[in-house]
Amino acid sequence: MSSRFRCGLCGRSYPLGKRIRCGCGGLLEVEHEFPEDLDVSIFDGRLGAKRPPYNSGVWRFKELIHPTIDERYILSRGEGNTGLYGHRKLSAYVGLEGVWVKHEGENPTGSFKDRGMTVGISEARRLGVDAVICASTGNTSASLAAYAAQAELQCIVLLPEGGVAYGKLAQAIAYGAKVVEVEGGFDAAMHLLEEAVETLGLYPLNSINPWRLEGQKTIILELLQQRDWRPPDWIILPAGNLGNTSAFGKALRELWELDLIDEIPRLAAIQAEGANPFYRLWREGGELKPVEKPWTIASAIRIGRPVNWRRALKAVKWTDGVVEQVSDQEIMDAKALVDRCGIGCEPASAASVAGAKKLVEMGVIDPGEEIVCILTGNLLKDPELTVKYHRGEIEGVEPHLANRVMRIEPRIEELEKTLSSPP
Ligand code: F0G
Repeated sequence: MSSRFRCGLCGRSYPLGKRIRCGCGGLLEVEHEFPEDLDVSIFDGRLGAKRPPYNSGVWRFKELIHPTIDERYILSRGEGNTGLYGHRKLSAYVGLEGVWVKHEGENPTGSFKDRGMTVGISEARRLGVDAVICASTGNTSASLAAYAAQAELQCIVLLPEGGVAYGKLAQAIAYGAKVVEVEGGFDAAMHLLEEAVETLGLYPLNSINPWRLEGQKTIILELLQQRDWRPPDWIILPAGNLGNTSAFGKALRELWELDLIDEIPRLAAIQAEGANPFYRLWREGGELKPVEKPWTIASAIRIGRPVNWRRALKAVKWTDGVVEQVSDQEIMDAKALVDRCGIGCEPASAASVAGAKKLVEMGVIDPGEEIVCILTGNLLKDPELTVKYHRGEIEGVEPHLANRVMRIEPRIEELEKTLSSPP
């Protein structure tokens, strides 16, 4: 077993190391040489593991992620092991019987980012770096701050000024990262990060880091394992910087080449209407044209210049997938529905469910098909928006599924009256 880097643009290969981009400017990917007889029984055999690293839903798949890393470098908090849920109301809302959600908000810091971060930070330890950096709409920074604190590495996070949900900002501050707000939004912060990597020698743990994507592949691996390696017809996910879309495509391609799946699920990447450069690219073709002032209520995916667009496009095409967009109204209603099912998620996550509903209405997804929507982050990441929705305080969004808080005098007759009020 061995691994190396390969440029996604020109194909040049490099030995593993700190490098993130090829000389030609393309992003590097990890290319593994897998043993021919690799079988899922090794992963299934670890399901009862009690101790790190194999109790993690990332490292359980070590042979497909980072086969050669020595266990002493691995920093793991038992990532993954996230639930796959169905609900009658969810199926009714989407308009399909076979609807499942995989809840990545159940990861240690509340988002799927922990899956990539455990691999990225373990690699940072292997490389012996002492300072790490990311630009983030919030979740990456929360995750990196936590893992860097545990690894005792210096951590700098670049955040769009005023554009991060409170739960995430609180995490980054509390875990002790150096928190730097950057004027001009996420795309400006990302640009600054690339410069910092060049000039200050900091190790970046954004999804431009190939190891992050290796970790995020395990969303697919674990969901297939939970289904006894039987792929659904569709996997539907929110799309921002397009790390997950790229990672999902890579996971599926590798599984297919290893003969571990016999069908390829179609990927549906869902963008928010006001931050939709990937959707436009899908419709118009050519090169990605950035959206200069991206806006959506779902701050996690408020991104106009996604760095991973080339590999994400390859992934969607390879799976015969689609790219769709949804409005903030659709996002917030879908979120309210997911929340009402007792599952709960943050706004960006609900783009997957809103997208599923739309694709069923458009006839792209057939009534008999089975789908898995990825919920990328926890409900508690953005409590402010949740409360505002139910109070009807979000401009331009109607609270169709509002659960109004009631206020009463402390008398039993008053309380009794509330019992008969909807919902
Ligand atoms: N959902 C949530 C909750 C996210 O935090 C993100 C990305 C996405 C979806 C989109 O995933 O970038 O792989 O297409 N958040 C990044 C961050 C950008 O900095 O936390 P993607």
